[in-house]
Amino acid sequence: MEVDINSIKIFIDSIKENSNYDFSNYSEKSLSRRIDKILFDNRMSIEELAVKISKDKEFIEKIIIEVTVNTTEIFRDAKTWQLLKYKYIDELKEKEKISIWDIGCSTGQEVYSMLILLNEKNLLPKAEILATDLNSEVLKIAEKGVYKFREIDEFIDNYELVMCSNPYDDKNHIDIPHKKYFEISRRKNLIKIKPNLLNKIAFLKHDIIQEKNIFDKKFDIIFCRNVLIYFKHDLQNKLFDFFYQNLNDDGLLIIGRHEGMLGPISNKFKKEESIYKKL
Ligand SMILES: C[S@@+](CC[C@H](N)C(=O)[O-])C[C@H]1O[C@@H](n2cnc3c(N)ncnc32)[C@H](O)[C@@H]1O
Repeated sequence: MEVDINSIKIFIDSIKENSNYDFSNYSEKSLSRRIDKILFDNRMSIEELAVKISKDKEFIEKIIIEVTVNTTEIFRDAKTWQLLKYKYIDELKEKEKISIWDIGCSTGQEVYSMLILLNEKNLLPKAEILATDLNSEVLKIAEKGVYKFREIDEFIDNYELVMCSNPYDDKNHIDIPHKKYFEISRRKNLIKIKPNLLNKIAFLKHDIIQEKNIFDKKFDIIFCRNVLIYFKHDLQNKLFDFFYQNLNDDGLLIIGRHEGMLGPISNKFKKEESIYKKL
């Protein structure tokens, strides 16, 4: 079920008044479903929820975790990763440093996928990688790099599409078995990122709406995949402009498969699939 517009407003206002979080620019559709679930799980009316929010800071943090959608995968949308691997990453070889920012990294599978590509191209030593998310709980999981093995088939399929085939030249590829990067225990239902890939990423809590670029540098690649989809169009456009300003020349913005850039800002990028290259 979805809650009405008035309840969404009560929710947004109470969070805004009692914390630094601001959901005014999130799409009402996705907020509505989330608020409904919070009300159901806590057996509360919207008015009772607002009172609880005003009195309990810890509860607010729990609510933030409930409001954000954290679904992610290793090599999610394999086509984007194939393009990165066989086309765009090679363009970074000449750079002294490669700066990467993954915004809305969730539990880290996306940024570990990038690490694997960089490692295969021997670019890892010169990469500086930041990964940020609003939700501090997902960041704890990301740092550990240990995941439930539930989605085994999808993980293996995605991995093999990117690491064991070349859609652009099927005679020119080397199979890289997933054992090189993951320890898999079917019995314990766990996948672990191997230790050589851990500690290469700085994971930080950061709100892309409130804080923008606190890092005092520009980036060669910005990932912001499957995050914009939860925001209203005006905010999406402001963020596209922000990404443009914070990319180096020829920098890449990578967004989700169901997200798109419209309007004048799109003339400042060259697009291929979900990869936007700054012109
Ligand atoms: C669906 S996940 C996407 C994960 C990954 N980028 C991917 O595409 O697989 C969306 C993530 O965006 C984060 N998020 C939502 N609002 C945010 C904000 N204002 N600032 C930073 N991260 C945010 C959520 O906490 C969540 O982990």
